[in-house]
Amino acid sequence: MAWRLKKTVVLVGMMGAGKTAVGTQLARLLSVPFLDSDEEIEKAANMTIAEIFARDGEAFFRAKESQVLDRLLRGRPCVLSTGGGAFLAEANRAAIAERGVAVWLRADLDLLWQRVRHKATRPLLRTPNPRETLAGIYEARAPIYALAELSVESRGDYSVERMAGEVIEA
Ligand code: S3P
Repeated sequence: MAWRLKKTVVLVGMMGAGKTAVGTQLARLLSVPFLDSDEEIEKAANMTIAEIFARDGEAFFRAKESQVLDRLLRGRPCVLSTGGGAFLAEANRAAIAERGVAVWLRADLDLLWQRVRHKATRPLLRTPNPRETLAGIYEARAPIYALAELSVESRGDYSVERMAGEVIEA
């Protein structure tokens, strides 16, 4: 089927929800570019996210994230995967609502933890008890992610192909 995407599909949700994997597949199915806000921030800064957090702090990272989001949303419609915190700022949500469609990839805490536990790349989880930290972040953010226009369940036994299909259905 030929699609003409009118708005950017913006994937939001927790670290480990599968935004990048699902987004890559979704973009392929829709024949549009795939962009990842974290990757764009890293390219622009020539540093990894972890380095930006360590050197300049989270507030600096969030400012960069908003700038990059705004820039990407002004481009041609595409599939855009965002960092887990990108949907929290009201200004970011407004920009997304104006130029895109937010899709929350919902996943349960156990699945998120399984996926992020072995990765040392996420600065917010560098704490003495990262599982508890993840649970706290999840609890605080879930009501905000729920503001997304659409939501799709991300499950461990779903393939990325299936997930991308579910987003298209939604
Ligand atoms: C963050 C999630 C990360 C990255 C940064 C902060 C968050 O992206 O943007 O470490 O606040 O949840 P992923 O959701 O792609 O892991």
